[in-house]
Amino acid sequence: MKNILLVCILFNVLACQNTERSWVVDEIAIIPAPQQITVGKGYFEIPQKIRIQAPAVFDNESHLLGSYLKNTAAVEYLKGSRIDAPNIIFEIDNTIIKEGYILAVLANKILIKANSSSGAFYAVQSLIQLLPPKLDQEPPTWLGAIKIPVHTIQDAPAFPYRGMHLDVSRHFFPKEFIKKYIAHLASLKMNTFHWHLTDDQGWRIEIKQYPELTSKGAYREETLIGHYNESPQKFDGKRYGGFYTQEEVKEIVAFAKQHHVSVIPEIELPGHAQAAIHGYPELGCSGEQVPVATKWGVFENIYCPKPETFTFLKNVLDEVMPLFPSQYIHIGGDEAPKTAWKKCAHCQALIKEKALGDEHGLQSYFIKEIEMHINKKGKKIIGWDEILEGGLAPNATVMSWRGTQGAVAAAKQGHDVILTPTSHAYFDYYQATYDDEPTAIGGYLPLKKVYGFNPIPKALQGTDASKHVLGAQGNIWTEYMKTPDQVMYMAFPRILAMSEVVWTGATSDLDKEYSSFLSRLEPYLERLDAKGINYANHLFDLEGTVVKKEGQVFYELSTPTAGKQIKYSVNNALEQTYIKPFIVSTDATIKGQVYKNKNPVGRSFSDTIKYHKAIKATVAVNVAPHPAYGAGGVKALINGVWGSNTRFGDKEWLGFWGDDLEITITFPEPTEISKISTRFYNANGQWLYAPKEIEIQTDYGILQKVNLPGTDQTILDVNLGVGVTTSFIKISIPSYGIIPDGLQGAGNKAWTFIDEIVIQ
Ligand code: ACM
Ligand code: ZN
Repeated sequence: MKNILLVCILFNVLACQNTERSWVVDEIAIIPAPQQITVGKGYFEIPQKIRIQAPAVFDNESHLLGSYLKNTAAVEYLKGSRIDAPNIIFEIDNTIIKEGYILAVLANKILIKANSSSGAFYAVQSLIQLLPPKLDQEPPTWLGAIKIPVHTIQDAPAFPYRGMHLDVSRHFFPKEFIKKYIAHLASLKMNTFHWHLTDDQGWRIEIKQYPELTSKGAYREETLIGHYNESPQKFDGKRYGGFYTQEEVKEIVAFAKQHHVSVIPEIELPGHAQAAIHGYPELGCSGEQVPVATKWGVFENIYCPKPETFTFLKNVLDEVMPLFPSQYIHIGGDEAPKTAWKKCAHCQALIKEKALGDEHGLQSYFIKEIEMHINKKGKKIIGWDEILEGGLAPNATVMSWRGTQGAVAAAKQGHDVILTPTSHAYFDYYQATYDDEPTAIGGYLPLKKVYGFNPIPKALQGTDASKHVLGAQGNIWTEYMKTPDQVMYMAFPRILAMSEVVWTGATSDLDKEYSSFLSRLEPYLERLDAKGINYANHLFDLEGTVVKKEGQVFYELSTPTAGKQIKYSVNNALEQTYIKPFIVSTDATIKGQVYKNKNPVGRSFSDTIKYHKAIKATVAVNVAPHPAYGAGGVKALINGVWGSNTRFGDKEWLGFWGDDLEITITFPEPTEISKISTRFYNANGQWLYAPKEIEIQTDYGILQKVNLPGTDQTILDVNLGVGVTTSFIKISIPSYGIIPDGLQGAGNKAWTFIDEIVIQ
C-alpha cells in the first residue's frame, strides 16, 4: 500500500544578485514514492565544504553522491579518522532488508543506512531528487544555497524484480545510449535491464564461433516505412544494421553493475530467428536462404530441432552466459509458428520418437533441452508465456505478456513469474489519443493505466502462489522507434509510473494516489529537461467524457493536474471558462484548451459528438469487455463519441478476446430507425480481426444477417439501411475465432474491437 505525502518543490530565486539563488525543498517529492517519510523541524543546509564518510563497501555510492555535490560544494572523503565531523555518514545496518535504506536528514548531518550497497545506492537516488535539477544538467552547476528539510525516509521495494526491456533488433541503439538508458532506470530504483538482442530483423551480439550471425545477420537490406497496416507497404531501400562486440557488452554490463542493474540478455528461440537463419541457413527446417526480415511481425522460418541446431544454440549460449553475471538468461519462446515443423519429416519423426504429441510438445521439448544446458551452467531461464504450451520446463520463470493468465497458470504450478502484460506494460503502445502522436504500433496505454497496474493478478491475490510474482517490467519494442529520442519519448513518463508500481507497490486508491504522483511528476519534468530527456508531456491534455444523468446528456472536461483553468467552445461559439459539465442536445464539436498561470499549455483539444437515436437508450452486452480494453465501459457503445482511428485501446473502443457478442440496445420508447452503423478495428498484427458476419434482431425477429468482407483496411465500417419501429435492437457478433495458420497471431483467439453503434 502506498503511503505518499502530498509534495511539491519550491524553487526560489532570490532577487538580490544574479548569482545568489537558493534551493529550498518545501516538501519531499520523490519518484518512486518512498514507503515512509517522517518530516521533522528545520533544515539541513549543504555547507560550502562537505565531508563524506563511508565504509569501503559503500565507496561507489558515496562517490556517486560526492560527484553530484562537488558541483555545488567542496567534497572531502573521510577515511574513518574522526578529527573533522562528517556531514554525510554512510553506515552498514544489518537490520535493514536487502535494497532497503534509511535516509535521515538532520539539522547538522545526513545519515544513510543500508545493509547492502544497493540500498545505499537507492538512498543516494532519493537524496539526489532533493537537490536542484541543475546538478543533473551538462555541465552541472549550482552556486546557491541548498536547504533540505529535516526528515527521515524508511524505504524498501515492494518487488524484487523491477525491470525495463529494450528491443535493439528492430532498431539498433549505440552503446552510449544503452548506458544512459540503464542509468535512467537505475535512478528510478529499477534493477533489471532485459536486453532483447536477437530477432528476425537483426542479430545484435557478437558470437566468435559464428561470425556470420553478425557479418550477415546484423544487417537487413531495407526497412518498412510508415505503419505495418498501411496498404501497400513501403520500404526505405536503405541497408540497416549494427551489433555490439563482446567488449562493448562487457563495458555495458560493468556500467550496469555499478548502477545495481542486472542485465538479462534475451537470445530468442525457437522463433524470431530469421536473422540467425539468414547467417546459417542450415538452422532452419528447409535449409533455404532467407533474408533478414525487413518488416515487422511473426515469421515462419524458425529453428529446426535438429542436433546441429542444438549444438549451435548451446555454443552461442556458452559464449553469452559468461558475459552476463545475471542468474537469468531469457530464451524467448514466444510467437513460434509451427508451420515449418509440420512440414518437416525430421520434426515429425522426433515428435513420434519422443512421444511429444504435437508441435507444441516439440516446442516444450526444445525449451527443456535448452533449459537443461543453461541450468547445468548454474543459470536459470526466463521465457515468454508461450513456454507454458506443451508443458513448462521444470525450472523456468515465466514472463507473462499475453495478459496475465500465463502468470496465474505458472505461479499455480509453483513457478516464478514476471508480469509484462500488453495491457499495462507495453510502452510501444500509444500514450495519448491526440492525432499528432508519433506513429506507434497501436493500442493505447496512457500514464494512469500504467500507474494503476497491479503486478499481482486478481486470481493470485490472497493466495500462497502470489509469492511467485517477482515483479513487473515495462517493454519497449522498437519497430516504430528509430532513434534514442523516440525511445525516450515512449519510455518517459510511463517508466516513472511503472517504477512506482514495482518499488512503492500497487495503488489501493488510484485516483488519490495518481493525483499525488502527478503533483510530483510536474516538478520532476524539470529534472528530465535538465537531463535532456525527450519525454512525452500529456500532463496538460484535456479529456472529454459524455455523462448521462436524469435523461439528459452532459459533456464533462477534465485535465490531469490540479490548479489549471480550462476554456472551451461548442460548435465554434464564443469561448467560455469551464466550470461544470454542460448539456449537449445536438451534434456538437467541442474545442478546448488548458491554461496554467493564464498561459495556454498542452495541446488544443477537439471532440465530436454524434447525437444519434441510441444516445439516450440503454445498452447491455452478454459478456464484459476484456478488463484491459473496456475503459469507457459498455456505455461507450452509444455515447455519441467515435473511437480513435489509430488507437483501439482508447475509452471508446471495446475489446473482447474470443467471445461471441450479443449487444442489446433498448430504447426508452419504440423508435423509428432507418440506419445502423458501427466499426470494427482490424489490426491483424495485433491479432484484431473484424468478425465475418453479424446478425441484427428487432421486435420483428431477425432483421438482417450480414456477411462482412475480409479486409486489409485497419477499420471496417458497417452501414445497414433498415426501416422499422422497434423497442430494441440486438446485434449478434460471433468472434472471428482461432486465427488460422499463415495469418498474424496464428493459433491464438482473435480479438474483436467494436466502436460506437450509431442509430439514425
Ligand atoms: C512479445 O511481445 N512477442 C513477447
Ligand atoms: Zn524441422
